[in-house]
Amino acid sequence: MKKKPIILGIETSCDETAASIIQENDDGSIKILSNTISSQFDIHKEFGGVVPELAARSHAEKIDLITKKAVLESGLKINNIDAIAATAGPGLVVCLSVGLNFGKAVAASLKKPFIAVNHLEGHALSPKLNSKLDYPYLLLLISGGHSQFLSVEKFGKYKRLGTTIDDALGEAFDKTAKLIGIDLPGGPKIEKYAKFGNPNKFNLPKPIINRGGCNLSFAGLKTAVLKISKTIRTKKEKFDLAASFQKTIEEILYIKTKIAIKEFKKLNKYGNRFVVAGGVAANERIRKVLIDLCYEENFKSIFPPLNLCGDNAAMIAMVGLEKFKLKQFNDLDHPVKPRWPLDKQAAFLKGAGVQL
Ligand code: KG4
Ligand code: ZN
Repeated sequence: MKKKPIILGIETSCDETAASIIQENDDGSIKILSNTISSQFDIHKEFGGVVPELAARSHAEKIDLITKKAVLESGLKINNIDAIAATAGPGLVVCLSVGLNFGKAVAASLKKPFIAVNHLEGHALSPKLNSKLDYPYLLLLISGGHSQFLSVEKFGKYKRLGTTIDDALGEAFDKTAKLIGIDLPGGPKIEKYAKFGNPNKFNLPKPIINRGGCNLSFAGLKTAVLKISKTIRTKKEKFDLAASFQKTIEEILYIKTKIAIKEFKKLNKYGNRFVVAGGVAANERIRKVLIDLCYEENFKSIFPPLNLCGDNAAMIAMVGLEKFKLKQFNDLDHPVKPRWPLDKQAAFLKGAGVQL
């Protein structure tokens, strides 16, 4: 039987330095041979957010070691790899450049094909790493930098149905955490705090909930959290604010996903799959609310495993594998693409003056 392709993925678009080796099994499922990742929480903690130059320096220091570790853990020789896939965008230019250049150098030295990967496409395909995933599907991508509903028609074909007009959902979690006095990573800690609080204590706004289709907005919510955060003193009140924020997000996502499902069905009459991906997809309460909604709508809900929701290189290798099978290789002068939307036709919908 013909040997199945083995792909090395490299990811450095933000604050995780990651390398992974995957191989397709004979039945089409995926074997993750290694998945190494180094987070930079400690580096950026005191600044309350990612500092691009510090992040890039840390990527440059670690990428070689992380990749060697991935090769070692896979039990393979580096020469067994059939192609190198690296994230080319979107993300922080200084960070992307490190992984992209490293990936190109490995490809050149091994004389193997190089594949430039869109980080968002990595998230979009991440559920494929542990389950079968057929097209078309409705995708809710919720991460630190993006929040969008997309209709995924087939590999490489995306139609955006809705997007955030201001903050990304992960960003809203992180900012709320900061206002409550919780350090990075904010999202998972808000989720923990919320378990001890009263979700009905504070009444928070749900921006554009009755207009704008399945577009999203979180900036007004952040302003409301800011105001309340100035008045709270006790740990109990912090738990209550976290719980109220978590509940408001669940309600927003429930309502907006219901609208997105309707719009998706206009494009795909028999479509019935809903994928949630990106760092925020690790939030168990959000998962539960969306699973329940899918049950009501007769949709199948699909999530990546918890450890592959956040940034990782296995999802980059996954896109690399799909592109390898289609022989979609890139030249070694492929540029960094800090802005690289999945749906190139979709209008830019951010900032003041956006009319919905
Ligand atoms: O996908 P990701 O790792 O990076 C980007 O591509 O942006 O997403 C990171 C985001 C952060 O904002 C983080 O706070 C959020 O995902 N996040 C969560 C949870 N785990 C990570 N938000 C809410 N609940 C979680 N359990
Ligand atoms: Zn990401």
